[in-house]
Amino acid sequence: MNDIAVPVDVLPDRPYPGLRAFRQDEWPIFFGREEHADEVISRIGRHGLVLVHGASGCGKSSLIRAGVLPTLETDHEVGGRTWRTATMRPSEGLLTRLAGALETALPRAKTPDEDSAESSAATERSWAELIVKGGGLVTYVEQALRDQGGGSLCLLVDQFEEIFRWAKEKSDAEARLFIDIMKNVNPPEGGSGFFVILTMRSDYLGSCAAYDGFAEFLNPRQYLLPKMDQFGLLRAIHEPAELYGGNIEPSVATLLLPVVNQQVDGLPVLQHALMRASDHARKRYKEDEQWLVTADDLAAVGGAEQALSQHADEVFAAATHGDPDLEEAVEWMFRALTDLDADRRAIRRPCRFKELADISGVSREAALKVLEPFRAPDCVFIGPYLPAQVEDDTEIDISHEALIRQWPRLCSIGIGGQTPPGWIYREFYDGMVWRSLVFQAEKFAGDSRQLLSVATTEQRLPWFKTIKKHPGWTRRHVMGDLRVETDIFDKQWDNVARMMEASAKNAASAHSLIGRLRGARNLSLFLLAASLFAMAWAIDAGRQAREAEATASETNKRLSAFGNALVPALCEAQWKSDLSNKKLCETAVGQQFQSSLDFQTGPQLKELKSSGPPAGR
Ligand SMILES: Nc1ncnc2c1ncn2[C@@H]1O[C@H](COP(=O)(O)OP(=O)(O)OP(=O)(O)O)[C@@H](O)[C@H]1O
Ligand SMILES: [Mg+2]
Repeated sequence: MNDIAVPVDVLPDRPYPGLRAFRQDEWPIFFGREEHADEVISRIGRHGLVLVHGASGCGKSSLIRAGVLPTLETDHEVGGRTWRTATMRPSEGLLTRLAGALETALPRAKTPDEDSAESSAATERSWAELIVKGGGLVTYVEQALRDQGGGSLCLLVDQFEEIFRWAKEKSDAEARLFIDIMKNVNPPEGGSGFFVILTMRSDYLGSCAAYDGFAEFLNPRQYLLPKMDQFGLLRAIHEPAELYGGNIEPSVATLLLPVVNQQVDGLPVLQHALMRASDHARKRYKEDEQWLVTADDLAAVGGAEQALSQHADEVFAAATHGDPDLEEAVEWMFRALTDLDADRRAIRRPCRFKELADISGVSREAALKVLEPFRAPDCVFIGPYLPAQVEDDTEIDISHEALIRQWPRLCSIGIGGQTPPGWIYREFYDGMVWRSLVFQAEKFAGDSRQLLSVATTEQRLPWFKTIKKHPGWTRRHVMGDLRVETDIFDKQWDNVARMMEASAKNAASAHSLIGRLRGARNLSLFLLAASLFAMAWAIDAGRQAREAEATASETNKRLSAFGNALVPALCEAQWKSDLSNKKLCETAVGQQFQSSLDFQTGPQLKELKSSGPPAGR
């Protein structure tokens, strides 16, 4: 590890790896965990196997890759003991990767004519054949070690929690066999032996107990990784820079440390901020000049808090150039690469490139191109990192969940509709919609009347059109066991497609019927309104006629009683009424009074009003 003088030619390309875990060859820049590395080594010596667990991003993988394994190998160089090391991740292929790791560390003896490409597959198969023996494999490994000159083999099974997804989605039997092998790793007798280190999130401890005898086996063999202390963190901040002829201003550490101490994603955030700030600072200097990272450099890359999300936004812009199709492709890729676990925690979801390209809705070439900026060495958001080639079967994975949790574009919940929900929540919502459609489509398959309602169809049709652009997406939301029914995905897709088509037709005919009904209703309404109007008019005319009649007879009576004095009284009543009443009045009193009426609505009427109503009213 780093306590040994570091020859310049073994220094990695950059002092800070960023978001990803340290690689085994990055031991020269790995600081602050010396004590913990020693502790793990002494535990494997005692137990043969140790499970290193802890919170997300606390540095488990880095500790083993850049701390423990290089120390073992160095021990071999210094003390003459032979240590071989091998590393695997369950998601890359559980038993095949185990066979591959063993083959790399302990190649099976080859006959001369086996020295061809075919032969390595044959020898790999031979480890595969031995793996089928379950727990018995350990004896074969020890035998192979003895046969190949003694020494020990330390196998790192990194991200051991991935075995539970493997068991669920691929093969439970494989997972059981693997665990059976692990349970047989015990402290070796004598000088050589097979050692195993598992790294796992503590959240998954409960899942281990689901396998017979595994909890009992693990209890004495687990190591909960302590957090790095302040001294360790300061070493991790300052010492890598010094190896590369640089320095970190003390104020930078002062700004970074509180964030590291308070945040769940402390270490990944620290690493990423250091990588970005040092890249920013080094641009000011010539290659052989001493460089200094200042607080301004840190601020320029977004500070400790925003360095990740600011960088992610920049890379997103560089990958998509504002092209909506590419933006959509990136969104769907990230949706495929992330998940919410049962406790709604954002987790990464490694995925084969073929599946990713299928989901992205663009050609493979375009998918590869948009992935590229995320895989660049000065970014390392998604692995495998450039210049590694990506083939159809290559596993693509987000380097660390800190990216999911820190990038609003991915993780925003979108409360209150003020900000759009992040991609991970859109995925969650779409998954629910899909499952509800699959459920309904199953009913529809049994009874073709079980269509979606018109309103639901209108809501779901545009959604379904978007989903169609991303074939393969529904595989992850398939309802049922893909391991048992391999064609279940196609069946469900066909069922939903048929139901959507039938529901769309149904909605269209319902609309045209409504349209026709509406037309007919409009006509009837018109006729009804016209007849009502006619009736009302007739009634009103009758009423007016009756009133006119009554008024006329009253007028006549009054005329006879009051003579010409009645005219102003009549006009008082009319004064309060509308024009029709005025007309009525005109009709009633006759044209002969018209001129005097008009004349008298002035002062004479006022005089009449002030003198009170005429007698007899
Ligand atoms: N000693 C260290 N000094 C500085 N940075 C570190 C150290 N150990 C880990 N890191 C950084 O912390 C981040 C997380 O590291 P790593 O992936 O090893 O954690 P982990 O516990 O294995 O995470 P996960 O729970 O996702 O498996 C990475 O960015 C890594 O570079
Ligand atoms: Mg890890």
